[in-house]
Amino acid sequence: MTKLRIRGGRPLVGHVPVSGAKNAALPILAASLLAGDGESRLLSVPWLNDVVVMLDLLQTLGVEIETDGANTVYLRAGNLSGCEAPYELVNRMRASVLIMGPLLARLGRARISLPGGCAIGSRPIDLHLKGFTALGADVTVGHGFVEAEAPQLRGAHIYLDYPSVGATENIMMAASLATGTTIIENAAAEPEITNLGMYLNNMGVDIRGCGTDRIEIRGMEHLKGATQTIIPDRIEAATYLMAAIMTQGQVTIGPIDSCYLHSAIAKLREAGADIETGEDQLIVRPAGPLRSIDVQTLPYPGFPTDLQPQLMALLTQAHGASLITETVFENRFLHVPELCRMGAEIKVIERRALVRGPARLTGTTVAATDLRAGAALILAGLVAEGETYVTETYHINRGYVKIVDKLQALGADVEQVPEAD
Ligand code: EPZ
Repeated sequence: MTKLRIRGGRPLVGHVPVSGAKNAALPILAASLLAGDGESRLLSVPWLNDVVVMLDLLQTLGVEIETDGANTVYLRAGNLSGCEAPYELVNRMRASVLIMGPLLARLGRARISLPGGCAIGSRPIDLHLKGFTALGADVTVGHGFVEAEAPQLRGAHIYLDYPSVGATENIMMAASLATGTTIIENAAAEPEITNLGMYLNNMGVDIRGCGTDRIEIRGMEHLKGATQTIIPDRIEAATYLMAAIMTQGQVTIGPIDSCYLHSAIAKLREAGADIETGEDQLIVRPAGPLRSIDVQTLPYPGFPTDLQPQLMALLTQAHGASLITETVFENRFLHVPELCRMGAEIKVIERRALVRGPARLTGTTVAATDLRAGAALILAGLVAEGETYVTETYHINRGYVKIVDKLQALGADVEQVPEAD
């Protein structure tokens, strides 16, 4: 096991390359199961632990996979051999639930170990299962597994009680091989949904409305493999954006379509950041003292919950009191005690955190509790006095490609060191 050692106080300078989006790659990899023949070629696939787990899962289901050793993956799903996701794989990555929709549509049956909760919340899948039922599936839960069966799915008009990203994706994929048309109302509108929709469209699905709250899918009898490029990771890009702002650095970040980050850019500018949106890139320049702001996380296009921990780290350096309201997940403040151990002044009351600044952060040993909390601790370490050690870094490697290399290239003093040190 390793931990990160960060010596704070250096402004970040240079260019950081943005990798493919984890949260686009995972549903698109799952959707490759829908292709009865032909080969899918996926470009700009980020080489992350979660992606490796998903590829392992697809291979256990009979998908033939090749990679070019860089970021292109070739998949052939013509001869599937199974319809079950075992506990040990689902437990490693809860996004395994995304294979349910494609397997149900393709084979008429899907059985997965119920994905448990995680650090940030209970993570139920009731909306996924409600969608499958509406499409004509029999859904049963027992002995820690959920099973869905349907000889043939039929199009339906589905209203999502909450614009769940995963439920929207699973229903889109299931509907792609259903007879007739499916309408999803109150659908999630994240850019990753649109990326999935582009891939499904390239496979032959007639799909409209991706990126809005109403998606229409006209199912086909048969789908074939297709080529699709994974969009850049907007959460990774915004994480480095905040690191540059906190350290008063001068950094360009790209490729990234700034329209994916309208809400984050607006809030950071409100806090006093100097951000220029260029051609497929963001440019940050030193802007002096930061101001406190109030923010609440919301489904897209609202402020992303996946940037909430990182923003909190930034706001520990802002002048005044900032109020952060986490409306998406019920337990996404586990980074607060760790930040407070570094000297942050944060008070949590239910889903609200009050951050007072600027706080003088000092280095110590802190633990990453989840992917984005770990990123927040790294950002805090970049401005803390002395040495910060971040442990449990496997969480961070699930969602950030080569984060140590990318930070070192920006001049940060960050090293991976043995846990024992
Ligand atoms: C996706 O998770 C992302 N993961 C998450 O990113 C992200 O935080 C989340 O969307 C919100 O944007 C991937 O795409 C792999 P949801 P997902 O279903 O699909 C409730 C990261 O750090 N809900 O939109 O699981 C749920 O409890 C990760 O990269 C139900 O009640 O998110 C939560 O409160 C973390 N019933 C809310 O909806 C359901 O059936 C949002 O969940 C499904 C969800």
